[in-house]
Amino acid sequence: MQLTGTARINNQGELEIGGVTASELVARFGTPLYVMDEELIRENCRAWRAAVKTHLSRADVVYAAKAFCTLAMCRLVEQEGLGLDVVSGGELYTASSAGFPAGRIYFNGNNKSREELELAVNHRVGRIIVDNFLELELLEDIAASQQREMNILLRVSPGIEAHTHEYVKTGQLDSKFGFTLENGQAMTAVRKALRQPYLKLRGVQCHIGSQIFALDGYREATRVLIRFLRDVKQETGALLDELDLGGGLGVYYSEGDTPVSVAQCVGAIAGEARTYVEEMGIPLPKLVFEPGRSIVGPAGTVLYRVGARKEIPGVRTYVAVDGGMADNPRPALYGSRYSALVANKANKPSNEQVTIAGKCCESGDILIQDINLPHLEAGDILAVFTAGAYQYSMASNYNRLARPAVVFVRAGEAYLVVKRESMADLVRNDIIPAEWTGNESLRVVR
Ligand code: LLP
Repeated sequence: MQLTGTARINNQGELEIGGVTASELVARFGTPLYVMDEELIRENCRAWRAAVKTHLSRADVVYAAKAFCTLAMCRLVEQEGLGLDVVSGGELYTASSAGFPAGRIYFNGNNKSREELELAVNHRVGRIIVDNFLELELLEDIAASQQREMNILLRVSPGIEAHTHEYVKTGQLDSKFGFTLENGQAMTAVRKALRQPYLKLRGVQCHIGSQIFALDGYREATRVLIRFLRDVKQETGALLDELDLGGGLGVYYSEGDTPVSVAQCVGAIAGEARTYVEEMGIPLPKLVFEPGRSIVGPAGTVLYRVGARKEIPGVRTYVAVDGGMADNPRPALYGSRYSALVANKANKPSNEQVTIAGKCCESGDILIQDINLPHLEAGDILAVFTAGAYQYSMASNYNRLARPAVVFVRAGEAYLVVKRESMADLVRNDIIPAEWTGNESLRVVR
C-alpha cells in the first residue's frame, strides 16, 4: 500500500486527503464518493510541464480529458497552462463551457461526426487529429464552406505492440485507429492532406496504448514516426514540424506495478528523438504529449460504505460495498487490480483476507479479489486508491444506480465539483408514450 499526494493517516488512525478526514467527507457528501486531491493533480500537471521544459525547447502537453472530464477539471488544466485533448462533441462542449481556450484544444477520435467536426471548426480548435479518409474529406468540406483554415495532424498507426492489456493497446497493425504505416496508407493520407486547400498539415500523431511501464515502445514509436517524417520529406518535399506521441504513461494501482516517472518518460523520448532526427537528417519537430491517467489517476480515491458480509467457510469471505461496476467498470472490463484501506481503521492490522464485491446484480461485479484488510463491519468506510482516471468518466447508471458526487479536496477544504445524481435524474429523460394515458385497452386484465 502506497499513500500518494496529500493522503495520510492522522493521529486518530483515520485516512485524511487534502487535510479532510474520510469520515467528514462521507458525512457531508455521502457514498460512494470520488475524492480528488487537487494539490496532486496540479503537481502532476507541473511535473509534465517541467519535464518537457528540461528536455525540449518546443513541446506541448495536452491533458487527455477522457481520463476525467468535468468543468472544474478543464478550468484547472487551463490554470496550469496545459492544452486539452478531447475526443467527442461532449468533451469539446465541456471544455468550451469551462471557458477553455480553443487554440489549446486538440481534437482526437476515430469516428468524428460531421456535427462534431463542425463544432470543432466553429470553435477554431488548435489541432484536429484526422483519423481516416472520410474525416479528411468531411473536414475539408466544412473548412472550405466556412472559409476557415484548420491545422491538422494525421493519426498514424505505427504497428507497435505496447506491453499492456489487449483492450487498451492501440498502436498495433490490427487496430481501428489511424492510417496504417506498413501498407502505405499513411503516405497516401499525407499526399491527400497536402492537397487540401483549407487543411494545414502540421504533423503526425500516434498513441501506442495505455498504462505503459516499459519505455521501449515509446522509443520505438519515436523512431518509426521520425523515419516517416523523413520519408514524407523525401517523397513530397513537405517538412512536417509536429510529432505527437499520445499518452499512456502507467501509474501504480497495486503491488507489482512499477511505473516510471514523467521525467524519465519525457527524457527517454526526447533523447531518442534528438539522436534519431540527426541520423535521419531532419530538424527536431515540436513534440506533443497527451497524458491522461498519469495526471489524474493517483489523485483519485473512492470512498465506499461497507454493507453486507457473506462468509463461505473454507472458500471465501465476500464484503459488499455500496458501489461497484457502475462507478468503476475497470476490474470487470480489464481485470484491473486495486489497493485499498479501511479509512476509519487505518492503523489496525490487516489480518483478514476478503473479496470486495460491488452491489450490481452480476457475479462479475467484484472490485477487489482477495485483499488483506482489518476486520470489516457494516458502516466502515473503504477507500479504494488510484481512482482518478477512467472511473468517473466511465461510470454508468447500470441497475439504475445514481452516479456518485465528485469533490476536490485541498488544504483542509472540500469543494463539490460534480453533484451526486438524484433519483429524479435517473428518470429525467424517460418518456411514457402519451398514447398510453387513459387507454384501458392496453392493460392486461388477469
Ligand atoms: N491520447 C490518445 C489518442 C488516447 O487514445 C489516450 C487514451 C490518451 C491520449 C490518454 O492515455 P493515458 O495517458 O490516459 O493512458 N479505459 C482504459 C484506458 C483507455 C485509454 C484510451 N486512450 C482504462 O481504464 O485503463
